Amino acid sequence: MKEVTVKDKFYTAIDIGSGNTIAIIGRVGSEGELKIIGVGGTVTRGLNKGLVDDVAELKETVRLALESAQQYTGRTVLDGAYVGVTGQCVSSMNVMNLALQSSESEIMTAARIKNMVESSYPAEDQDNEILHVIPIGFTLDSYNRTRNPLGLHAKTVEVESHVVKMESVALKNLLKSVFANKMNVNGAVFQGLAASEAVITGDEREMGCVLLDIGDSTTDIVIFKEGSPWYSTVIPIGSQMITRDLAAVLNIPFSVAEEIKIKHGHCMPSMVNATEEIIVPGFQGANKKVVLTRDVAVPIHSRMTEWLRLVTQGVASSGLRAMPNGGLIVTGGGSNLPGLEALIKDNLEIPVRLAFPHGIKGLPTQLQKPEYSVAVGLLLWAVKHQGQKQNYSQDNIFSQIKNILSGKERMAV
Ligand SMILES: Nc1ncnc2c1ncn2[C@@H]1O[C@H](COP(=O)(O)OP(=O)(O)OP(=O)(O)O)[C@@H](O)[C@H]1O
Ligand SMILES: [Mg+2]
Repeated sequence: MKEVTVKDKFYTAIDIGSGNTIAIIGRVGSEGELKIIGVGGTVTRGLNKGLVDDVAELKETVRLALESAQQYTGRTVLDGAYVGVTGQCVSSMNVMNLALQSSESEIMTAARIKNMVESSYPAEDQDNEILHVIPIGFTLDSYNRTRNPLGLHAKTVEVESHVVKMESVALKNLLKSVFANKMNVNGAVFQGLAASEAVITGDEREMGCVLLDIGDSTTDIVIFKEGSPWYSTVIPIGSQMITRDLAAVLNIPFSVAEEIKIKHGHCMPSMVNATEEIIVPGFQGANKKVVLTRDVAVPIHSRMTEWLRLVTQGVASSGLRAMPNGGLIVTGGGSNLPGLEALIKDNLEIPVRLAFPHGIKGLPTQLQKPEYSVAVGLLLWAVKHQGQKQNYSQDNIFSQIKNILSGKERMAV
């Protein structure tokens, strides 16, 4: 076992999903190596579509996840967590700002670039908190477009940034469940961007691609263009809709429908054995019944076709005229559904890849599943942005957030 040194840094990630809450604790040693030292998870209670509907239950959910992650670490890690957030209360926009106007040409130093990016933050908005301001391009002297102006000279500089924000009240309600467990919050990260950290390759970002994280009650969408996130949105449909459909069609409780979905679900009726049968337990005195796997696949196919239509609509509403060449990268627990890749390929003529955290040094195989993309991505995000804390605190969260966002937590350039 490696000895812990004072230079080791600890990071805690909490993915509070509508279906499952996962906490991961990681340690980065003096040589930069990441080691996962604790993983905990539990079924989420008190959250639906990213919105808190029961504060006490959600607090208990976070407690259970943190406690089970910490039991492996041999120490209490209370340095502050990076928390994933999602829901229709998350939105994005791209802003273009004139950041420098000078009569003499000026050299772009790292400090000047940082100042320019900071000056491009959007004006305060009473109802929303800004989660991220990510620089996506610089235009020098009206014609020289670059992603990295370091060392160049220019008289004028415009900065284009991708801004992700979240309704203040929804964020405040969610973070309460973390504070109530005596844990600070170092960063609130849009779950779509967190998942991207864990599953999207550099080439896919450069070619342009669409990340889809299908969770229990939401699907996060992030479009990448020319290497940067360019559009972020959330649609309020996840894999839970399938379970609800099966419960209604087969007249069975939700929990039984969930089991049937996981064990026998498929979204392509044409791909399942036409004669294979499933025994469905009886409910409220009714006899058990036998249904064909294909009959279970039919409503799933309808629901997922509708889901894909909404995803396509979500992508189109970004203003993008065609799907990017890097294609769709699909992750999240809902992407475990057999036949999903075939269904997408049947409807869209673009590359599709089912993705999970992979190729990350030291990542246990246990975490190499699509339902861990957000939690693992949050940890990678934390390591990448180390030292930059939003420092959300339980007391007067709003003034804290405003102060800190006016200078500290933003993307590094
Ligand atoms: N093999 C499977 N087939 C179909 N669905 C599956 C399978 N495995 C998991 N799921 C579904 O994935 C969903 C959970 O995924 P995930 O943990 O990514 O969601 P979440 O993060 O809790 O929710 P959200 O992101 O919407 O807040 C559940 O609805 C679950 O039924
Ligand atoms: Mg999720």
